[in-house]
Amino acid sequence: MEKSASASNGVVKAVPASWNFEPNETLLGLTALSVRGVLGRIKAGMVEADGGGRPVVPMGHGDPSAFPCFRTAAEAVDAVTGALQSGEYNSYATCVGLEPARRSIAQYLSRDLPYTLSPDDIYLTSGCAQAIEIICSVLARPGANILVPRPGYLFYEARAVFNGMEARYFDLLPEKGWEVDIDCVQALADKNTVAMVIVNPGNPCGNVYTYEHLAKVADTARKLGIFVIADEVYAHLTFGERKFVPMGVFGAVAPVFTLGSISKKWVVPGWRLGWIVTNDPNGVFQMTKVVGSIKSYLDISSDPPTFVQGAIPNLLENTKEEFFQKTIKIIKESADICWEQLKGINAITCPSKPEGSMFVMVKLDVSCLSDIKDDMDFCCRLAKEELVVVLPGCAVGYKDWLRITFAIDPSSLEDGLHRLKSFCLRYKKPTK
Ligand SMILES: Cc1ncc(COP(=O)(O)O)c(C=O)c1O
Repeated sequence: MEKSASASNGVVKAVPASWNFEPNETLLGLTALSVRGVLGRIKAGMVEADGGGRPVVPMGHGDPSAFPCFRTAAEAVDAVTGALQSGEYNSYATCVGLEPARRSIAQYLSRDLPYTLSPDDIYLTSGCAQAIEIICSVLARPGANILVPRPGYLFYEARAVFNGMEARYFDLLPEKGWEVDIDCVQALADKNTVAMVIVNPGNPCGNVYTYEHLAKVADTARKLGIFVIADEVYAHLTFGERKFVPMGVFGAVAPVFTLGSISKKWVVPGWRLGWIVTNDPNGVFQMTKVVGSIKSYLDISSDPPTFVQGAIPNLLENTKEEFFQKTIKIIKESADICWEQLKGINAITCPSKPEGSMFVMVKLDVSCLSDIKDDMDFCCRLAKEELVVVLPGCAVGYKDWLRITFAIDPSSLEDGLHRLKSFCLRYKKPTK
């Protein structure tokens, strides 16, 4: 039977009584695992607030590019402008990415490795996000599982689950600088475990792993027969005592996929250029057909913009060290401000000082606050009443914690932390 419906232009069309589409409930549920989805819910409440003329302080996401002090390097802009003006990059690129870009990334990353990467070890992607998407699709098979850190970047779980793969959480240990709980990894793994994920420098914890700890991770992976996925999107963004060590250093112990991008180090997440690197001097990925699977996947997916690929050799070669030093200096200053000011805020404790990335995890004690249910409730009210956006722990798999982004302009950060403090004081439970 057919019904009739009126379109807005007044034309009456016949439509079938029902449509064959059925929503994929798994997909609909995945927005709860996305930082964007959670921040969207928090900000929705903020729109209703009057604002009172105060600026919003965005301490919820990892994109400082809007702040003038985080403007990207002039050499990076020149590289992209030059690529565009040359007229040589208006075509489709090859599926794996343009060879000169892959070669220059191989050279750039090999500087920190005990062996030399070849351009064939590099696959270009639309940011690190697409690198995650590809790896999760390539590794998934019915019954497979992947080990992911908690707290963590839930995009891994979302992409795993969307591909029908189970995500199992191993703990990071707050009292040990958010190291991987190796015993937990060993207890979770079984013959269907294909890989484990580490994020270093860490999102959401701001940790930086030592050489020794990464060596333990590699040994564990080898024993278990699983690959390591090393998310190094914050590579080199370190400002504490520990230097960044790439997981690829241990590629001969256990094969490593290194995922990265120019998004954070060059502060250009909108340029959408990332990579998958196969760090595998023993050729395990070739032998097990991982390489063939990645290539097949790339044959059926979209590529990063060709002109950004064209810009990569100049961007990598010409960006001056001063740009990176300036960025690190601002992030370090902000991390110090954050660390000091958090100490004076009731209901919040911070187990370890961040040494890398752009984030710190803090524990929220809702029992000390009147009328606040949990981390999500806290963040929604904070946004509405103080126009300060922070990420609730539930968005990184860690309830009743908060992830605070300190990579914003230092004066805005001071303002945001000040508002956070007054909010916590306002809700402080009276002592009996
Ligand atoms: C740990 C981690 N991996 C991957 C990404 C995605 O990176 P990109 O912006 O290059 O897609 C992010 C973005 O914030 C991230 O924090």
